Amino acid sequence: MKIKKGDFVLISSSTTKKWMVKVEVDKEFHTHKGSIKFNDLIGREFGERIENNKGAIFYLWKPLPCDYSGAIAHSTQIIYQTDIAQIIFVAGVCSGTRVIEAGTGSGSLTAALARYVKPDGKVFSYEINEKHQWTAKKNLDKLGLADVVELKLRDVSEGFDEFDVDAVILDLPNPWDVISAARKSLMGGGVLVVFVPTFIQVEKTIVKMVEENFLQIEAFEVIRRDLTTKIGAIRPVTRIVNFTAFLVVARKGLHRSKEEQK
Ligand SMILES: C[S@@+](CC[C@H](N)C(=O)[O-])C[C@H]1O[C@@H](n2cnc3c(N)ncnc32)[C@H](O)[C@@H]1O
Repeated sequence: MKIKKGDFVLISSSTTKKWMVKVEVDKEFHTHKGSIKFNDLIGREFGERIENNKGAIFYLWKPLPCDYSGAIAHSTQIIYQTDIAQIIFVAGVCSGTRVIEAGTGSGSLTAALARYVKPDGKVFSYEINEKHQWTAKKNLDKLGLADVVELKLRDVSEGFDEFDVDAVILDLPNPWDVISAARKSLMGGGVLVVFVPTFIQVEKTIVKMVEENFLQIEAFEVIRRDLTTKIGAIRPVTRIVNFTAFLVVARKGLHRSKEEQK
């Protein structure tokens, strides 16, 4: 597949040094190993290797969803790819999905959701803090995803504007205060996903989910254990991210049996 004007390209000089760029005619991109002219990228194939004016070697990749997550500027804690992948899967997010998210934070999860719901779905993302919303807006603009997202500046304890959405995803300190609003916005059987870092928050979330007739409740942690990939020395890496947060997932039930109401 050939690179053209307006494409996003992931440029790498090694497995750890990577940059996400948007190809613009007559512009160039600067790295610690010299610059790369965008005009030199147009017409090349993804997967090709190029050499710049200083003799440095770079590789050209078509960005994957996880690469977009790496290109996010932070003004808050963000959700990273291991948890994002699981959230997308358990919430059933795919092309055409309508999903509510709070808080927007830096927009890391927002950007991933936007990539999957495109082109017919929508992400409604709520944030209380104007500065964080601005960071998220910049990130979404940079990644060409702004048209799929409606950013809303609001304390979500006041509720959401949308109804019949497929999923609600909460990354907030007090998600239990918003579960009743999430119930109002979700379609029957819709998925609620809550991301919280402590056991006490997991418990308070589950108590509220049960009160609000959410069913099929699951709580878990996602753990990724990386290996080195040097042939002859393949083993677990010595430094890992040991913990991020827990996920609590449930589905909106429409009817409650007499037994369950007790
Ligand atoms: C940890 S950050 C979210 C990070 C985001 N998931 C990401 O991946 O970039 C939590 C955000 O929730 C926002 N927040 C906290 N309470 C809120 C509320 N009641 N209504 C809306 N946003 C809220 C905070 O301002 C903060 O930006």
